[in-house]
Amino acid sequence: MSSGLESRARIGILISGRGSNMVALADAVSTGRIPNAQIAVVISDQVNAAGLAKAKTRGIETVVVERRGRSREDHDREIVAALKARRVDLVCLAGYMRVLSDEFLDAFRGRILNIHPSLLPSFPGLDAQKQALEHGVKWTGCTVHFVDETLDGGPIIAQRVVPVRDDDTVETLSERILVEEHQLYPEAVGIVLDQLRDSIIEDCSLQS
Ligand code: GAR
Repeated sequence: MSSGLESRARIGILISGRGSNMVALADAVSTGRIPNAQIAVVISDQVNAAGLAKAKTRGIETVVVERRGRSREDHDREIVAALKARRVDLVCLAGYMRVLSDEFLDAFRGRILNIHPSLLPSFPGLDAQKQALEHGVKWTGCTVHFVDETLDGGPIIAQRVVPVRDDDTVETLSERILVEEHQLYPEAVGIVLDQLRDSIIEDCSLQS
């Protein structure tokens, strides 16, 4: 898709830790639930991220771009270069715990997705499940959205709802939300790739 001609969309996934959403995406690609796509690279800002080994086991290339006290702009420049070098069409943040610079956003405008463990716009930022419990909501869930300059505030692509139980702890609630995240993220990526393909076809027909 990078040139508008390749049929398999190239997905780059950014992680900082466990990487269970990355695994859900990779498995959805390999089983064809996300059709005509491939995971081009998994990039982590943490050298010890457990997700790195899970990606390697699946034969996916991994890259570590450590922060090493650099500015956000410097760090992001290296990540963008790594994504561009692999002709990535779509960037999926999967538990990537760093806000992106304007330069990163501009490089992949409209092509960066994030998954967040709440029904946005409720409970953006850190510890979304804890925020939901403290607020006493009866329903929460997860959201996949486009990433823009706002904190977890970009346009929403898809959501799933999860009931909050009276005896829920942060752990039990997080676990139940995570089950839904693993279904939701592949579904949302499929929707966005369909839209990107349609816009490429439209562009081509406009040019011809
Ligand atoms: C997931 O619950 C994801 O929604 C959340 O971090 C976890 C990462 O788990 N992301 C955020 O809170 C982003 N604001 P994973 O590494 O196993 O996918």
